[in-house]
Amino acid sequence: MTDLSSQAPQPQAIYLKDYQVPAWTVESTDLHFELGEEKTTVTSLLKLQRNPLCQQQSPVLVLHGHNSLELLSIQLNGNDLLSYQRDDEQLSITDVPDSIELRTVVQIEPQNNTALEGLYKSDGMFCTQCEAEGFRRITFYPDRPDVMAVFSTTIVADKVRYPVLLSNGNPVEQGETDDGRHFVRWEDPFPKPAYLFALVAGDLAHIEDSFITMSGREVKLQIFAESKDLDKLQYAMESLQKSMRWDEEVYGREYDLDIYMIVAVDFFNMGAMENKGLNIFNTSCVLAHPQTTTDAGFQRVEGVVAHEYFHNWSGNRVTCRDWFQLSLKEGFTVFRDAEFSADMNSRTVKRVEDVTLLRTAQFAEDAGPMAHPIRPASFIEISNFYTLTVYEKGAEVVRMIHTLLGPELFRKGSDLYFERHDGQAVTTDDFVQAMEDASGRDLGQFRLWYSQAGTPVLDVTDNYDSETGRYALHVQQRCPATPEATEKSPFHIPLALGLLDEAGDDLPLAEGQTTRVLDLTKAQQSFVFENLPCRPVPSLLRGFSAPVRVNYPYSIEQLQFLIAHDSDGFNRWDAAQTLMTDVMEALVEDCQAGRELVLEPALVTAVQAVLSNDTLDPAMVACTLKLPTEAYLAERAEVVDVDAIHTVREFVRTSLAVQLKEPFQAVYDANCQSESYSPDAASIARRSLKSLALNYLMATQDAQVLSQVQQQFAEADNMTDQLAALAAVVHSPSEQLGQQLLDQFYHRWMNESLVVNQWLTVQASSPQPGALQRVLALLEHEAFDMRNPNRVRALLGGFCGQNPTAFHAADGSGYRFLAEQVIVLNALNPQIASRLLTPLTRWRKYDAARQLLMKEALQQILDSGELSKDVFEVVSKSLA
Ligand code: TRP
Ligand code: ZN
Repeated sequence: MTDLSSQAPQPQAIYLKDYQVPAWTVESTDLHFELGEEKTTVTSLLKLQRNPLCQQQSPVLVLHGHNSLELLSIQLNGNDLLSYQRDDEQLSITDVPDSIELRTVVQIEPQNNTALEGLYKSDGMFCTQCEAEGFRRITFYPDRPDVMAVFSTTIVADKVRYPVLLSNGNPVEQGETDDGRHFVRWEDPFPKPAYLFALVAGDLAHIEDSFITMSGREVKLQIFAESKDLDKLQYAMESLQKSMRWDEEVYGREYDLDIYMIVAVDFFNMGAMENKGLNIFNTSCVLAHPQTTTDAGFQRVEGVVAHEYFHNWSGNRVTCRDWFQLSLKEGFTVFRDAEFSADMNSRTVKRVEDVTLLRTAQFAEDAGPMAHPIRPASFIEISNFYTLTVYEKGAEVVRMIHTLLGPELFRKGSDLYFERHDGQAVTTDDFVQAMEDASGRDLGQFRLWYSQAGTPVLDVTDNYDSETGRYALHVQQRCPATPEATEKSPFHIPLALGLLDEAGDDLPLAEGQTTRVLDLTKAQQSFVFENLPCRPVPSLLRGFSAPVRVNYPYSIEQLQFLIAHDSDGFNRWDAAQTLMTDVMEALVEDCQAGRELVLEPALVTAVQAVLSNDTLDPAMVACTLKLPTEAYLAERAEVVDVDAIHTVREFVRTSLAVQLKEPFQAVYDANCQSESYSPDAASIARRSLKSLALNYLMATQDAQVLSQVQQQFAEADNMTDQLAALAAVVHSPSEQLGQQLLDQFYHRWMNESLVVNQWLTVQASSPQPGALQRVLALLEHEAFDMRNPNRVRALLGGFCGQNPTAFHAADGSGYRFLAEQVIVLNALNPQIASRLLTPLTRWRKYDAARQLLMKEALQQILDSGELSKDVFEVVSKSLA
């Protein structure tokens, strides 16, 4: 039980059902920024009109405005406004004529803005982050996505410090002011909500290229960064061009402005932001260079550049009516960027990575106290709903529509959606309606995916009658209770399946196809297949056709059979994962019962078979042989036994390594490439296979392997190989060597901020003893800065999220540490504080002693004084 009564007035939730059309619309927004070191002045001239769609009689004009805005003047139709009301969040004006001009002048202090919402400074450069509700920290405004206006923006600043002045749209005028400063005026012809506004001012270098659209227009492409990073922008440029072409080819969508700009900033709360014509990116999602960026980093850059570009249609041209509809743009855009990455690289690997993330982290979120439908029904702080559920599960829901309709009808639906709603702010239901109207399919029941949270579970059984050749598959679906509902209606679930005959070949299913999509719509359903020559092995949920858990009592032999024969690459991988998971879960039980751990021989055979089969795609070999992570095993467990899971995983890794040392060594040797670095899919596959082999080999603690890894560290010409070697040593018991390499690494890369982040994470996530002490020491390191979210994520996120044994130390030290850091961060950057705190919210999954300690840590945060809405919402919902 939690006593909240001693708290200050509690933040209130807002509800989707309370949505009302805006009483006022904005026809045009004219902004004037005087950027200064102490004070920045923002003058806003708004043309406002009564919204004819709003039924209210003489409604109050409500403008959002954060309490940090210092209001210098306010004029209505040219006259000083004498009467208005202001509270912590809004400014209200009564008795307003139907059509007005409102002029406000406010002062703000971007240099002191550590929340990184609104206008702030990152490394001496001004930049903005307005989604979701940052614009109200810049000026008074109806800051909601269904209020769309054309913007013009004049930026005035010191010439020397801020030679580059950027905003949305096209530059229309520039010059000098009388006092020796300079200005640029920008106009964005496309009406947009305030959350897409952006401004950048700084001493920036850039690269430039162009793109000819499908209708023959030339678009100027510019990517800006600090001059020291100029050599790391080419990959993002190529990714942008590829994205633009792909969106034309796959969705028929063309870019609309004459210029597209991306700016890299170091202090950024998330990955990147799709501001119209002026994307702002976390440096980690745009800078790429072989020497400093890993393969994963390159792929992230490609994916995030694409994601933000795709938002120009799915997000900007068609935007959200309100923030409950966030998945309208995010789910759809994640689906789009995933398909893009699949087309550019290995489709199966991309799917494996996305599903792994979903099953490990989104399933956990969906089973925790913050679980919510992809369209939440209420929230206290919208920043808390930029979640794996809204993004990744949202993308899975769009993918299911794609599966149900097929590619042609899906494209017809997306065309209709974009045409019907171009320039509008709409709902997820409008999206589904367009898909329905274009395809003629009934998506009525399917809509439940938008309103019901939780991960459905499918329990599958089957029987085969050898007399008649009749095979029946029985499927039961259920969905666990989540905060918004205990009872769930059955979902409409597309279950893609194949049936393998005794030789491992696909049996022909309906219409000669080898994969059939079954429509599950009931709590219990049976599907019958006639005239099968033999008892088939079912290949269930091919390609992960729905975000559900599937239980089917596979035998070890059946799993081995699927690993060897399934025509669906994803399911071959999944069968291997299931085999490993089954083996490890059984070992966890042995471990808990104090029995001796013995490795299932079938696992050794299976791994050996994959290792020695040189007809396989190296990328898939690497995925397939990667042991399920401790986080994945924890998510699946009823009660998480952190130590047993760790012990078992290490046992399996070591046993496999010892028994298969030679083939692992052979794979390592075969994949040491001599060509120079390239981030293409085939080379990435070879490096990941090499790292995988190294990872197993390190478990043997063989002296020869140690010298091999040192050599890899010393000779690597790319960050992927070097970091893999560093992590391998630091995460092994070779303490001295680890420290030596860490020191060398730091001295070589101390001026490369993004590499320093990796250096912090390697240490924070090390399972070797003493992690908390190391993290405490690193908090004091010259490289650490609590105001830089990338640093916080690297060090604190690395410890709390990627080091289960240390974070869950039985004495509660990890929990208390996190609570203390969250309290510090709450005052500096609420969004980051709230995200960091996620691991504590999962207390129900642990043993009684840890539950108590975790709840104490949450209570410690709650009792610490005035909390941001962000942190309050997460803590109070977790304790409820
Ligand atoms: N809309 C952005 C995206 O998904 C992400 C985003 C939302 C964001 N809110 C943010 C980024 C706050 C930075 C800060 O691409
Ligand atoms: Zn997005």
